[in-house]
Amino acid sequence: MQEEGDDTMNGNILITGAKMVLPTGIETGDLRISSGVISEISTSGHLEPLEGEMVHDANGMHLLPGGIDPQVHFREPGQEFKEDLASGSAAAASGGITSFLDMPNNKPPATTLESIEDKIASANAKCITNFGFFIGATPDNLDELQRAVGTPENGVAHPGICGIKIFMGSSTGDLLVHETAHLENIFANTAGLIAVHAEDENRLNERFEQMKHRTDIAAHAEWRDDITALNATDLAVNMAKQTNHRLHVLHLTSGAEADYLSELTAEERKQITTEVLPQHLTFDETDVEVQGVRLKMNPPIRFAKDLQTLWKRLLDGTITCIATDHAPHLLEDKAKGWPDAPSGMPGVETSMPAMLTHAKDGRCTIEQVVAWMSSNVAEAYQMVGKGHLEVGYDGDIVVVDMENKITVDDANSWTTVGWNPFHGRELVGWSVLTVVAGTPVFERNDATGPKGQCLVEPGAVGKPLVMMPWN
Ligand code: DOR
Repeated sequence: MQEEGDDTMNGNILITGAKMVLPTGIETGDLRISSGVISEISTSGHLEPLEGEMVHDANGMHLLPGGIDPQVHFREPGQEFKEDLASGSAAAASGGITSFLDMPNNKPPATTLESIEDKIASANAKCITNFGFFIGATPDNLDELQRAVGTPENGVAHPGICGIKIFMGSSTGDLLVHETAHLENIFANTAGLIAVHAEDENRLNERFEQMKHRTDIAAHAEWRDDITALNATDLAVNMAKQTNHRLHVLHLTSGAEADYLSELTAEERKQITTEVLPQHLTFDETDVEVQGVRLKMNPPIRFAKDLQTLWKRLLDGTITCIATDHAPHLLEDKAKGWPDAPSGMPGVETSMPAMLTHAKDGRCTIEQVVAWMSSNVAEAYQMVGKGHLEVGYDGDIVVVDMENKITVDDANSWTTVGWNPFHGRELVGWSVLTVVAGTPVFERNDATGPKGQCLVEPGAVGKPLVMMPWN
């Protein structure tokens, strides 16, 4: 990177010669960020560097709005030895992700407004990306949920709070709200967005009895079958419709749910949104057989037919967002085998390369990846100033290389747990420069090697995301 000035923290940067993924399509040109905000975009002539402005030559590279990952499980507080907000945020930046939404299944779970305020304070001190946090629902914390997001008559928007998370089925951690009366109480008496982990707890418990003698990983997807997922998704959708509540169905995994959600009307799809993970768009039962419990997660990696339907429903607009469900577990815990190995896998640092490699392979376009990983996520969460390369939007951008193939290697991981489910796969679309509010926070080039390096200290940049209440 050529530096015109020596102040890398002033939020002023000029990116030249990039293939910019603009809302109107891909065009080659220059983009300027001044004081952290996109101030000029030129597709017809060069922008001259200003005094004190850093210049980055992005010839041959693509320039995208920074990725927004709407589902990560960093482990702070309680299990910082697996991931704290600093390591998680650095991992995000290395993957071209400039904003993340973090889940509440910590130890202890984040179920009070105070616990979320603590997370925001820690993120301010440690992150190099922007951040938002879900408050976890329990059967009896309605008052805390209302303090965080408001009541139906009076929604509130706290910077850094993105909504309520409900685990309808048990997964990692202790959070669970599965009884209909408790769910109804939350849907009927809160504002904002409810994000659900949709698995039917009763069916999970019944079916585990039939499976518990098994030790093979194939048992996981048989146990947590597609009906388990569909039952809960159907329940949540009906509650959202009855209470006119904003609903986001997290990590869709089954063709059955994707087809079910495709029946929603256009109007209903503004109220009820959903997401899919790169791992469910890439892996099927064959990969599970090869990789074993590394690929154990909830809801599970399913079957080739589910993968095909998820792609179909992503491409037809039923599914609008990509998340990662980044869930760092130690490999020594994974070694416990099925069923004892914990569920979940890291992903925040490889989601963008994984999806851009699908684009390179012709499965989708780069513009679609930008919509799924940035613009649509910003829209779903009503984020202010995010998701587009457009004058007036925040200067959160990523320069990616669509030609340079890098093989994913556990040894290059940024996550503290040091492994990645895409290990051994050759991917393109790696960030060569990640910029948050005009400040370069991460680079990857010949000098840094494939792992890349962070360019700022923890806490140097990154803010609580501002999200408007839904109505
Ligand atoms: O596999 C999963 N792991 N699914 C979840 O819902 C939680 C996550 C975790 O936090 O480990």
